[in-house]
Amino acid sequence: MKKLPLLTLVIAGTLTQTGLAGEPSPERQIALRNMLNHDCGACHGLTLKGGLGPSLLPDALAGKPDDYLITTILEGRPGTAMPPWQPFMNRDEAAWLVGILRKPKL
Ligand code: HEC
Repeated sequence: MKKLPLLTLVIAGTLTQTGLAGEPSPERQIALRNMLNHDCGACHGLTLKGGLGPSLLPDALAGKPDDYLITTILEGRPGTAMPPWQPFMNRDEAAWLVGILRKPKL
């Protein structure tokens, strides 16, 4: 009988990890936002308005397809300073980041 609550927790945990149409877990969202601020910001500017890399603000990304941006994040751009982030995030997470970038900041 004592096993039941633990099992329920494990199942609930698995569902929150995978159930929400590819949305990263809350912990992972925090980690990805930190990555955006620190790692991406190092090249794209602290406020992402551009630096060594181009602006990633909503206006700059408007008209560029999701797939194009997601692939750029995952694979980088050979011959440029944009590195591949595949080792650090999956496609769902890159797609989520593109969604964040497209949202106007408060
Ligand atoms: C070492 C520097 C560097 C870092 C770190 C970096 N980028 Fe870039 N990024 C670039 C450069 C340079 C380009 C432009 C490549 C080109 O000339 O096509 C670019 C291009 C992009 C583009 C395509 C923009 C467009 O308008 O086509 C996206 C999206 C992007 N980066 C996202 C990210 C994200 C998200 C991160 C962090 C996970 C990141 N970058 C980290 C240098 C960097």
